[in-house]
Amino acid sequence: MQRTHIGDIKDLVGQSVDLYGWVHTRRDHGKLIFIDIRDRSGIAQVVFTPKTPGYESASQLRSEWVIRLKGKVNARPEKMINPDIPTGKVEIEPLELEILNKAETPPFPIDTDGKEIGEEHRMKYRYLDLRRERMARNMMMRHRLVKFIRDHLDGQGFLEIETPILTKSTPEGARDYVVPSRLYNGKFFALPQSPQQYKQLLMVAGMEKYFQIARCFRDEDTRGDRQPEFTQLDLEMSFVEREDVMRLNEELLISIVKTLAPEKKIQEVPFPRLSYKEAMEKYGTDRPDLRKDKDDQNLLAFCWVIDFPFFEKTDGGGWTFTHNPFSAPKPEFMQDLLNGTNVGQIITSQYDVALNGSEIGGGSIRNHTPEGLRAVFRIMGFDDERIERNFGHMLQAFSFGAPPHGGIAWGLDRLMTLLTDEPNIREVIAFPKTGDARDLLMESPSELEGKQLKELHLKIEK
Ligand code: AMO
Repeated sequence: MQRTHIGDIKDLVGQSVDLYGWVHTRRDHGKLIFIDIRDRSGIAQVVFTPKTPGYESASQLRSEWVIRLKGKVNARPEKMINPDIPTGKVEIEPLELEILNKAETPPFPIDTDGKEIGEEHRMKYRYLDLRRERMARNMMMRHRLVKFIRDHLDGQGFLEIETPILTKSTPEGARDYVVPSRLYNGKFFALPQSPQQYKQLLMVAGMEKYFQIARCFRDEDTRGDRQPEFTQLDLEMSFVEREDVMRLNEELLISIVKTLAPEKKIQEVPFPRLSYKEAMEKYGTDRPDLRKDKDDQNLLAFCWVIDFPFFEKTDGGGWTFTHNPFSAPKPEFMQDLLNGTNVGQIITSQYDVALNGSEIGGGSIRNHTPEGLRAVFRIMGFDDERIERNFGHMLQAFSFGAPPHGGIAWGLDRLMTLLTDEPNIREVIAFPKTGDARDLLMESPSELEGKQLKELHLKIEK
């Protein structure tokens, strides 16, 4: 007999089914034993009486035991119907019960939304925490979001291309996670803060339209909307202008909401646009929350923020980039960039997309000539030797006919939290790090053995 998913039994009244799953709850009512059996697709009520097969075993069952249950799907009597669950009009009359595995008593309840449980506890037993309906729903939604994005971009001629995880430092503002090299004494790989340089090299390589569901690593202080490793929808296109990239992304965001979160309403389409100056003057932030009704959890207020200054002063009195050193200025500021004049007035082509007060994405049109890129680093005070050492590969690539190009990256975890009404990004990541950047389940980071350290030419200072 073939396995039936519990979510399907509502349409199978009168039929025999073979269910596999976990004991969600057990309630004894005198001689009657009610078992809720759960699989990924739902929950079904099973009613044992002393006359039904398996009654003796049923009385031993405890929460989270794994069982196989053959039974018949019956319509529930009218007054027993539970309108709160999709299978609430049916129940299972058991024919055969098999215990597949026992379980220790779980350290916390699984039949709640879990918000009442301390997070450290949830993370240590994340595989149990993920069994709860809310978390399973989030994982399914995430799957659907990624699949939707893949299908949509495939339909527009994008290629999904993987870029390296073992790479070299990218100066994108955060600290790098580094990996010591065994073969090259004293040398290190860095984990990518984003695929920025590789995606631009893919444009030089003639790929024209690239995207990736890309894992990024940044060693910065963790917050509600920040993780040390997180996921971007990263994309890049050749022969485009700012408007093309913004339009494509706006359309994709709108169809995601329509298809995957139809209960949500987008406040304004096309997305309103604010300059950085306007946003700061009116809202005091460059990721304003434009919702007209902040009590409505189904209201999504997207906006674009554009026209950021390219550079800002460093503490030392020099200049550094505000967003992305690989950005091009708006065309009318190119001459100032190349000459290093009026630096504080240069406006970048950067565009950020904000949603309900959260920055969910950002990108720009890039410098595609070696002169343009070199000018950015000169303004930042890098001498030619350092520019060559850090970015020689990009300058060289740009000297071989780099097409004009631009792109964007979304914080996919952040978008997920807003689509699922979750309070932070840890709720939409299967195995996130804690607020203090640890994995409590694996207990990492952890120490290495002496032999490993030696192979890596590392000595630990206590
Ligand atoms: P940026 O650094 O702005 O741009 O990153 C893009 C988006 O990624 C999300 N994000 C994060 N999400 C979770 N945890 C973090 N630590 C974290 N850091 C960033 C944000 C942000 O808007 N290469 C450029 C993109 C480009 O220009 O194409 C980049 O990485 O939602």
